[in-house]
Amino acid sequence: MTRSTLTVAAAAALALGALATPLATQAQQPAKLKVGFMLPYTGTFAALGVAIENGFRLHLAEQGGKLGGREVEIVKVDDESDPSKATDNVNKLIKRDEVDVVVGTVHSGVAMAMAKVAKDTGTLLIVPNAGADAVTGPMCAPNIFRSSFSNWQPAYAMGEVAAKRGHKKVMTITWKYAAGDESVGGFKEAFEKNGGQVTKSLNLPFPGVEFQALLTEIAAAKPDAVYAFFSGGGAVKFLKDYAAAGLPKTVPLYGPGFLTDGILEAAGDVSQGMVTTLHYADGLNTPRDNAFRLAYAKAYKLQPDVFAVQGYDAAQMLGAGLKAVGGDTTKKPQLIAAIEAAQIESPRGPFKLSKAHNPVQDIYIRKVDGKVNQVTGIAIKALADPARGCRL
Ligand code: PHB
Repeated sequence: MTRSTLTVAAAAALALGALATPLATQAQQPAKLKVGFMLPYTGTFAALGVAIENGFRLHLAEQGGKLGGREVEIVKVDDESDPSKATDNVNKLIKRDEVDVVVGTVHSGVAMAMAKVAKDTGTLLIVPNAGADAVTGPMCAPNIFRSSFSNWQPAYAMGEVAAKRGHKKVMTITWKYAAGDESVGGFKEAFEKNGGQVTKSLNLPFPGVEFQALLTEIAAAKPDAVYAFFSGGGAVKFLKDYAAAGLPKTVPLYGPGFLTDGILEAAGDVSQGMVTTLHYADGLNTPRDNAFRLAYAKAYKLQPDVFAVQGYDAAQMLGAGLKAVGGDTTKKPQLIAAIEAAQIESPRGPFKLSKAHNPVQDIYIRKVDGKVNQVTGIAIKALADPARGCRL
């Protein structure tokens, strides 16, 4: 029964003097489940926020708009990828809007502020991108989950791949913030363990795009290769500038797949043949992924990317938890236990969560071919983040 038919029925019953029945009917309607999206809708990561929301809504639509038998209402906040506004923004969702669960965000610095508030308030938080190692490390908590990756995961895999490809001396370049630092750290750990050396680490403030002086430094130093962490609008600009500097022919560029995911249309031809590592790829050609891609393309007239997958899986994880408690979010321990036990049938391939609540997942090797990040192999199977500092 819709709300308007209910109102009509209630009015009719009232007129008949039969008050008890319609009120009881009304009481049985479960309240809507309020989901707070805290995502970037402006700035360098804006497209990533939209893809995450699209993915989440696609799963929801496939479930008839309900999770755990409850209709879902979405409340949104644009976090602008600004850590200085993060605590206020997440508190708006939790205290003002009284959401049942928070889904967010993309930027690691913002996510860490969110994780602190989630931990303090006990609010269920599902992180659909931000890789901040701390979120499933020292800040881990029973009510904090991630549907994406830790910054360490694809970076560590790339370190192994770069060493196997025979590179010895590599320079790194990234934005100076948690995700960039941790991505470089993961790469360096594996690369140096396998005989390589990171000769110099360059960076610039987030979300700056003044790459010129740094590219000149790379050209002068002539390393065997470069490892870069950028994403979204900043990645498009970086790839264009790298190409314009004439570097791709002499100094091959590597990175976690964020460097080339969701941006190939915008970047043009500059990144052809580039090898990256990530927990998703184009051309997986599994029935699960094919169905997802078809549904996504139909719904949004766009091809999905890793960010869309992570949003879709955030909804799947929430759905698994809510299903186990029949939509009753007050049964938090059971809800949490159900997400912990779930096998998520992700478009990326099925995964389960580690003890620290981060996906244990295959990291693919991908190669830019035309406008796609074509899968060419698996760098590391079932890679778990080490979850350093997490006590759960
Ligand atoms: C992050 O800040 O953790 C981050 C941002 C964009 C990405 C990946 C990681 O594509």
